[in-house]
Amino acid sequence: MTRPDSNGVHRATPEMADLPRPGDEPTPTDTARAFDELTYQRAKAIIGRYPQSRSALLPMLHLVQSVQGHVSQQGISFCAEQLGLSTAEVSAVATFYTMYKRRPGGQHLVSVCTNTLCAALGGDLIYKKLCDRLGSDGKPLGHEQTVGEPGATGSITLEHAECLAACDLGPVLQVNYEYYDNQTPQSAAELVDALRRGEKPDPTRGAPLTDWRTVERELAGFFDDLPTSAAGNSAADETLVGARLAETNGWTAPGMPDNADLPPVPEKK
Ligand code: FES
Repeated sequence: MTRPDSNGVHRATPEMADLPRPGDEPTPTDTARAFDELTYQRAKAIIGRYPQSRSALLPMLHLVQSVQGHVSQQGISFCAEQLGLSTAEVSAVATFYTMYKRRPGGQHLVSVCTNTLCAALGGDLIYKKLCDRLGSDGKPLGHEQTVGEPGATGSITLEHAECLAACDLGPVLQVNYEYYDNQTPQSAAELVDALRRGEKPDPTRGAPLTDWRTVERELAGFFDDLPTSAAGNSAADETLVGARLAETNGWTAPGMPDNADLPPVPEKK
């Protein structure tokens, strides 16, 4: 849980963090109430994709986030019950990967790359600008904090992120994992201002912007409108320069032989 300050900024404090507490797990009835019939059906469909049910945990956690906006204790119990795992096993995964959020987030997740290349090109300045822009009472918004009522139109959760795999287009940021390339502090500030107003500016490439919960449902493998979700050219000209140069010059890489002499794989102990 988080509580808003006078300007609607939701700041988590350690005691508010929705972390597992021994003996504080929801009952099966609590869990059943938190998820509707459609979610149970979707969970079943996800599990059906894998030979072993435990392999379905990652998309199941995305499904939970699409319903609740984060991975709650109920969500952890739900996954554990459906997959025959312990809640400790599910918690271990949910707290390891940064894409799983333990607190309710905004309509949009804004991720600013502050890894080496983007940082050197201005990513640190962009992150600082957005912290200040989205903060209030002279207090900047912090990592994984939310401005606005979580889930409400125009609410934003801000985070700094490791390399977003678009170094040739840095500094970059993502909104709900869609790319906004070659950013400046000013363009990033204008982008979050538009999001706060409820607008959805087009990403530089790829599919049109939706909202974080919709993307979470898609990451779980459920698309209401697949052509739109897959629309747009996600490859940038800058990324294709090498491939085009190789094509023009007739350069090719040697193929991998079928019987390559590979080093032995060490035995698992
Ligand atoms: S360092 Fe920012 S995308 Fe790689």
